[in-house]
Amino acid sequence: MTLSNIFQYIIFIMLISSCHSSKVATSTLSDHGFQYALVGGVRHDQATILIKGSVDNEFKIIITEEVSKKMVTSQKAILTKENNYQSKNIFKNLKASTKYTYEITPIGSNLPVSSSAFSTFDNKAMSYKFVFGSCSETGSNSPIFNTILKENPLFYLQIGDLHYENIDSNCTQRFQDAYKSVFTSPSQSSLYKSVPFVYMWDDHDFGPNNADATNPCKTESIAAYKSHVPHYPIVFDKNDGPISQTFEVGRVVFILTDIRSQKLRPEYKDCERTKIGTNFGDEAHLQWFLDAMLKAKKEGKVVAWVSSYPWINAPGGPNYKCKESDNWGGYPEERQRIANFIKQHNIPVFILSGDAHMVAMDDGTNSDYATDGGAPIKVFHAAALDRPGSYKGGPYSHGYSKELGQFGIIEITDDGNSAVCFKWFAKDKNGNIVKNTSGQEIRLDFCLDVEK
Ligand SMILES: [Fe+2]
Repeated sequence: MTLSNIFQYIIFIMLISSCHSSKVATSTLSDHGFQYALVGGVRHDQATILIKGSVDNEFKIIITEEVSKKMVTSQKAILTKENNYQSKNIFKNLKASTKYTYEITPIGSNLPVSSSAFSTFDNKAMSYKFVFGSCSETGSNSPIFNTILKENPLFYLQIGDLHYENIDSNCTQRFQDAYKSVFTSPSQSSLYKSVPFVYMWDDHDFGPNNADATNPCKTESIAAYKSHVPHYPIVFDKNDGPISQTFEVGRVVFILTDIRSQKLRPEYKDCERTKIGTNFGDEAHLQWFLDAMLKAKKEGKVVAWVSSYPWINAPGGPNYKCKESDNWGGYPEERQRIANFIKQHNIPVFILSGDAHMVAMDDGTNSDYATDGGAPIKVFHAAALDRPGSYKGGPYSHGYSKELGQFGIIEITDDGNSAVCFKWFAKDKNGNIVKNTSGQEIRLDFCLDVEK
């Protein structure tokens, strides 16, 4: 190497390192370690904004009413190593059915690191649209999340398999990494910062494949959910209890049941069941669910029950296997008790599910498990957001589609009269309507009467 070559080489190295250090310095100065914001826990009068960063820092969150441009409230978010650089700020006394914008600005700076908007819900009759789905690769940056955002839903319901980390060891660190991977994905992050995020897990994101109460990471998984997700009040708030919760939008009560973390499996000798299983785990949890449905009915509301995995599955069905122990096909006694309760109290309810990587609907033809019939519950499956397709349970009166990249849409029309009406349909990641294997649109339109 000549002297001139050596000189050029030194200049080149200096240039590279100066570019690198200026990039790091710029990024640190511009984002102040900010990683992402989530909006959730939204009701008619409040919302939660969760901020995650990577270094000690303090931010100010300012909430402004969009139409009047009036600042209505602000809070400080303090990120420290002790709180895993995470802050959950609850904003109360907001107005119902109102659009708010928010800005997150480092203390001592005038430049926001993030800004977005959300709308509060109403606690009276209201018409709206929401989107739901489940099952995506860990940290997926699929365009399906942009397609969902374009739907402009009031909120987004993720009902399981938010990631596929299958965590059953080195629990706390791996859950932190998994949530970070999901929430820093560009397409998911844009959705969750501006569309209220509601989340109930299934097996792959609670623990390993087909996880249940024996998951060795159970308590860490429950703790990680509580700290990383802006959720609604958790009914059984103990360190190994279910994360079941409810929320209301207009005259619909959404009951999110955690039927993973407390699940006790049935036992079989060959195909003969020798021990009955339970998805709810204990009487208190199941009774809470039944009471929550009855309360909703008595208050003149309808129930959207989130059961992450298939309700429809029984001997003779297209996918039924003996020794069924994951979906409701392995729990006929508990399922019948729920169906009989719904029949006895004539509860206006439908089921939203994921798990199976398909869009499927049943109008009640195949879902009635009450003794001698009488509980024909409508069922809507929506998956997979970003995983290969699969067909589980069934049959489904309106067929199924087991393609990759699908989500469910529900439009609710409610003018405060004697019924709440629903339009169910699904789209793929390109925004096209989902059709069943016969080429017909998978769609259901119906109304449920409410108690006046
Ligand atoms: Fe899944």
